[in-house]
Amino acid sequence: MTLFSNSLIKWYSTHQRSLPWRSTNDPYIIWISEIILQQTRVKQGLGYFYRFVERFPNIRSLAEASEDEVMTYWQGLGYYSRARNLHAAAISMNNVFPNTYNEVLALKGVGQYTAAAICAFAFDMPYAVVDGNVYRVLSRYLGIDVPIDTTLGKKLFSELAQQYLDKNNPATYNQAIMDFGAIQCTPTSPKCSLCPFVDSCSAFLTNKVGILPIKSKRNIMQDRFLNYFIVRSKECLFIRQRKEDDIWKNLYEIPLVESKTNVSVEDLISLNDFKTMFDGNENIVFKVLENRYKQVLSHRILYINLYEVITRNDIDDMPGYMKVNICDLHDFAMSKVMKMFLEKYI
Ligand code: ADE
Repeated sequence: MTLFSNSLIKWYSTHQRSLPWRSTNDPYIIWISEIILQQTRVKQGLGYFYRFVERFPNIRSLAEASEDEVMTYWQGLGYYSRARNLHAAAISMNNVFPNTYNEVLALKGVGQYTAAAICAFAFDMPYAVVDGNVYRVLSRYLGIDVPIDTTLGKKLFSELAQQYLDKNNPATYNQAIMDFGAIQCTPTSPKCSLCPFVDSCSAFLTNKVGILPIKSKRNIMQDRFLNYFIVRSKECLFIRQRKEDDIWKNLYEIPLVESKTNVSVEDLISLNDFKTMFDGNENIVFKVLENRYKQVLSHRILYINLYEVITRNDIDDMPGYMKVNICDLHDFAMSKVMKMFLEKYI
């Protein structure tokens, strides 16, 4: 045990958060919690975690569920491929959770971080987790200005994390460094004056806390422009399951025309996709419900226009879409923004 890990674990003994996945060493439960926590902060993740493990308490229940049902427990979290991977991995396990690092790493959707977390928390194996908290804590404590998003930086920080890991207490040490990053050594306004490392933290002693860790590039944002239509047919709405290979794959949505820029209604009706969608329906009137609603994701911004479509004659068929009774909409997994729109306007 080094001075660093000793102080860290001591700090953890009085500051740790009480979290449900910490009171178990069931690898299945830990795996679920880690995948959810890649997606959201602890506070928001707790509700998802409780609902998910209540419905799917073990490998078998998850493997035997339909993908659609699994998705309904993920809706609102984003990055839906994570839920699809969870389901596929559960099926691949044949009801036995693997218990070696390489086998855990081979599970669909499990990378080095998650494999280390599962092996350390469930099996107390000496694998150091390397997440954003660990990059921040180590880069500051050691005063390292190698960018963390480069091959060199990733390799260096993985080696340092492994070197600093308390091999006798890997589970506790890993939880401790993550909590330390989340509570004490935070990205902005870290609590340096109350920190156990005030006398030994390189960044603090050289006034570099504000600039570490360093990133070499900023995210390149790519905007998308989505035009959605609420099309009613008596008690029903038209929806479809997305097949496009993006973050909303397999989720359900109302009729959509994507455009290259933000378009007005006049421009919208001249787009081919629009004409195909509403082929043969003359005299459509649009009511604007949302105009340039903005959703910022980690690597792109979505601009969404939402229209209610009002036609003289009832539309009873839309190619590629199905009619679903409004009362049954909750059976279909949808993105957070789609759910929000439907709750607000239907
Ligand atoms: N974030 C990711 N994994 C976590 C864990 N096990 N505890 C707290 N926060 C986390």
